[in-house]
Amino acid sequence: MSRVDLGERELEVLDQGSGLPVLLVHGFPLDHTMWRFQIDALAESYRVIAPDLRGFGSSPIDSAAAQCGVAMEEYADDLAKLLDALDLSEPVVICGFSMGGYVALQFLRRHGSRLGGLVLIDSKAAADTDRARAMRIKMAENVESWGSAHVAKLMTSKMYAASTPASRPEIVAEFIAIVSRTNPASIAAAQRGMAARPDSMQLLELLKLPTLYVVGEEDQISLPAEMKAMAEQTPGSTLAEIPDAGHMSPMENPAGVNKELLEFLDRLSG
Ligand code: MLT
Repeated sequence: MSRVDLGERELEVLDQGSGLPVLLVHGFPLDHTMWRFQIDALAESYRVIAPDLRGFGSSPIDSAAAQCGVAMEEYADDLAKLLDALDLSEPVVICGFSMGGYVALQFLRRHGSRLGGLVLIDSKAAADTDRARAMRIKMAENVESWGSAHVAKLMTSKMYAASTPASRPEIVAEFIAIVSRTNPASIAAAQRGMAARPDSMQLLELLKLPTLYVVGEEDQISLPAEMKAMAEQTPGSTLAEIPDAGHMSPMENPAGVNKELLEFLDRLSG
C-alpha cells in the first residue's frame, strides 16, 4: 500500500501488477481488503488498483464529513484524481462492489471518457426507497454512540448465502472485523452519501462500454432480479450469477467471481 497525495486529501492505495488497469472499488463499510481473493489472481495479468475510499481502511477523512456526508460523486472524483496522480491516462476498467458500484456509476457519469469497461458486483442502479433512506439517516445519526461493532452486528444477517456462516465462518469473522475497525464518522458520511444518490437506471440504456454484472445467487441486498433488470437495460451486457454466494460474493465464492472477471478482462484485452 502507498499513500497518494490528491491535493486536498490523501488516499491509501494498493497498486499491483501491470497491463490493462483495473480499478477495484470496495463496498460499505469496508476497505480494499475485501478484494483479497481477487487481487493476486487479477494482478497476474492486469494492473490492479485497489484504493481505500475516503475515510475507509487507512484513508483519512475530515471531521465535518459525518455531518455533511460524502456524496458518491465525491468518492468518484477522488478516484479520477487518484488516476491523475498515478499518471494513468489509458482506459481503465472500473469494478465496483455494492457501494463501490454506486461510486462507479457516478464515475461513469462524470469521467466516463476514462473508462474502457464497467463491472458492477452485487450492486444496483436504482436510488433508495424512502424507507431505506430513513434507515441510513438513522444509522448516520446514531453510529457514534452505537459504535462500529454494533453496525457489523446489524448488517451481518443479510450479507451471506444461507450456507456461508457454517461453511466459511472465517469470512463472517473477517467482515465483522473490518466493519468494527471502521471509523464511525466514515460510516455516517457514506450513509448520508448513499441516501442522497441519484437513480441511475436511465444511464444504463445509453451505456456503450463493455459491461459485466455479477451477483451472488442468494444476494438479499442487491437482488439477482434487480441486477437482471439492469443487464436487460444495458445494451450488450452480460450477467453472471454466482452460486453458493450472497451479497459478499467476492469473498464467499472467489473462484466463481474471479472466473467471470478474468473472462471479461481477457476478452477486453483481446
Ligand atoms: C455495501 O455492501 O456496500 C452496502 O450494502 C451498500 C448499501 O448499503 O446499499
